[in-house]
Amino acid sequence: MDLTYRPRRLRRSSALRSMVRENGIKPSDFIYPLFVHEGNEVEEISAMPGAKRWTLDGLVAEVERAWSLGIRCVVLFPKVAEDLKSEDGAECFNEKGLIPRAISRLKKEVPDMTVMTDVALDPYSSDGHDGIVSSEGIVLNDETIELLCKQAVVQANAGADLIGPSDMMDGRVGAIREALDDEGFDHVGIISYTAKYASAYYGPFREALDSAPRLVADKPIPTNKTTYQMDPANAREAITEAQLDEQEGSDILMVKPGLAYLDIIFRLRQESQLPIAAYNVSGEYAMVKAAADKGWIDEKAVVLETLLSFKRAGADLILTYHACDAASWMQRG
Ligand code: PBG
Repeated sequence: MDLTYRPRRLRRSSALRSMVRENGIKPSDFIYPLFVHEGNEVEEISAMPGAKRWTLDGLVAEVERAWSLGIRCVVLFPKVAEDLKSEDGAECFNEKGLIPRAISRLKKEVPDMTVMTDVALDPYSSDGHDGIVSSEGIVLNDETIELLCKQAVVQANAGADLIGPSDMMDGRVGAIREALDDEGFDHVGIISYTAKYASAYYGPFREALDSAPRLVADKPIPTNKTTYQMDPANAREAITEAQLDEQEGSDILMVKPGLAYLDIIFRLRQESQLPIAAYNVSGEYAMVKAAADKGWIDEKAVVLETLLSFKRAGADLILTYHACDAASWMQRG
């Protein structure tokens, strides 16, 4: 054939392919989510093989391991004891609570690791919602924000570097920014869950924390989060959320979940100059683990290809439970 263009010319050798490769992943792109609990034993999480509920000691060792693999940021999630949960989730701003203690230990023992937190009431709420649920079953916006601001300040005071509001209340980024600044934490950043969808992919995470919406006698608790998390059918609305978060002072924007929302990552990349993070969520992790366990897919290849897809879509950072595995596979080549 008389072809002028033969794209295969640049695919002939590994050296040529590496010369024209457009995207890549490195361990410092990852943010590693970790679960902590009060117990003395490290616990397995059945829907998330390989992820654990760490003790504080176990957490420190795992974060040291992550650091040695080149990971530079972790995000912490607490499994809160049932008797500390309440309707308003007030345990979220207890200075002596599990998360503030975990942050201070990490900042003491692995001081260079960036510590990110999650701001929302759900791990602390007896109703299992990210905000306060009224007696009529409404998730209250402005009342919730007051608590989120206190939670953020307590986390910053314990040493958090990045605050991650995951609650999807309107106006929370601006309110948290102001609360942090008022308390002298103007150096602490905000990585907002900007476009967080009401997704079925969060199932394994809610099992890990036992944080799913509950049915409580005499209270009409919504069984899902659709009045505050975004409708999976919407894309333009994500741009509105991004503009608001940017105006309100977010330093990094996040899209969540990741894989079913690569178009949203791509759109936000066109709309904003801020760094963008993708959350490769628990359900995405669980599906890969289950298929790999069955021998139906090559776990390493699928994970690395998936993580690369977030970068290709335009993400700078990737929150992923695969972080340590991926970093160690990358090290070994
Ligand atoms: C809580 C929160 C959730 C996740 C992160 N923060 C669950 C939810 O909104 O119900 C999900 C993370 C995952 O599935 O990996 N606000």
